[in-house]
Amino acid sequence: MGKFSGKTALITGSGRGIGRAIAVKFAQEGANVIVNDLHDDDNAKETINQVTATGAKGVFLQADISKVENVQALMNQAVQAFGQVDILINNAGVEIHAPFWEVTEQQYDIVMNVNTKGMFFLTQAFVNHLRNTNRPGVIVNNSSVHEELPFPNFTAYCASKGAMQMIMRNLAVELAPLNIRVNNVAPGAIRTPINADLLSKPELLGPLQNNISLHRLGEPEDVANVMAFLASDDAKYVTGSTYYVDGGLAYHYTEQ
Ligand SMILES: NC(=O)c1ccc[n+]([C@@H]2O[C@H](COP(=O)([O-])OP(=O)(O)OC[C@H]3O[C@@H](n4cnc5c(N)ncnc54)[C@H](O)[C@@H]3O)[C@@H](O)[C@H]2O)c1
Repeated sequence: MGKFSGKTALITGSGRGIGRAIAVKFAQEGANVIVNDLHDDDNAKETINQVTATGAKGVFLQADISKVENVQALMNQAVQAFGQVDILINNAGVEIHAPFWEVTEQQYDIVMNVNTKGMFFLTQAFVNHLRNTNRPGVIVNNSSVHEELPFPNFTAYCASKGAMQMIMRNLAVELAPLNIRVNNVAPGAIRTPINADLLSKPELLGPLQNNISLHRLGEPEDVANVMAFLASDDAKYVTGSTYYVDGGLAYHYTEQ
């Protein structure tokens, strides 16, 4: 019996990266897993293969969560797949590198629509599913250390993650009477395709690792393990919190 036996988890953006590691971890803990991604491609198939290899059930649902009309359909399909959804992991996210004075409206909109609007309205659809079926539930958002920490050239990304922090805190209060817990995980620098540029440049990677207390990047599984804790009854008294999974990056400080 795993932590999530008999439960169904919907994980957005789980075709690759941290989302895939979350999908596999939850499958190992016995969940039925709904893998969502923008792309129905080999990455998505690989996640489903890894999920089903654990013996768990996995279903892939393609959806662009940045569009509000898609997220209700995604939740309906998820409910149809396994009869109910118990856990929502808002993981899908994008970032765009641009100096503040060059950011376009289109770049701003992409980042805010995926990272903030998508998670907001998918969460709304999930909460209404729980209300309609009178059941408790858990929400964990994949935020970032940049819900708190400045990141020059990524102002729209920081704005989106800062918004995620306040959405989480607000919902923790508003949804507690419905027995719904809401928390964020705030990863630091994790080894995934989103960091492909950084990973390919030793001149960038070296100084970054020096700014991480544990002196290494995190692995997707490091984030997935904390997600699983927060989504499980082990964390049944935890709501309204951000858990940092950053190897000490956010508050690293040294003096010679
Ligand atoms: N990797 C890191 O260092 C790091 C650090 C802090 C926070 N995060 C956050 O973790 C989350 C996952 O990041 P990752 O590193 O695994 O990135 P990634 O780019 O490897 O994976 C993100 C996945 O989300 C999907 N996606 C993008 N837009 C989507 C949409 N509109 N609808 C559905 N799916 C969509 C992508 O197709 C991709 O499969 C993001 O929210 C990111 O901000 C990552």
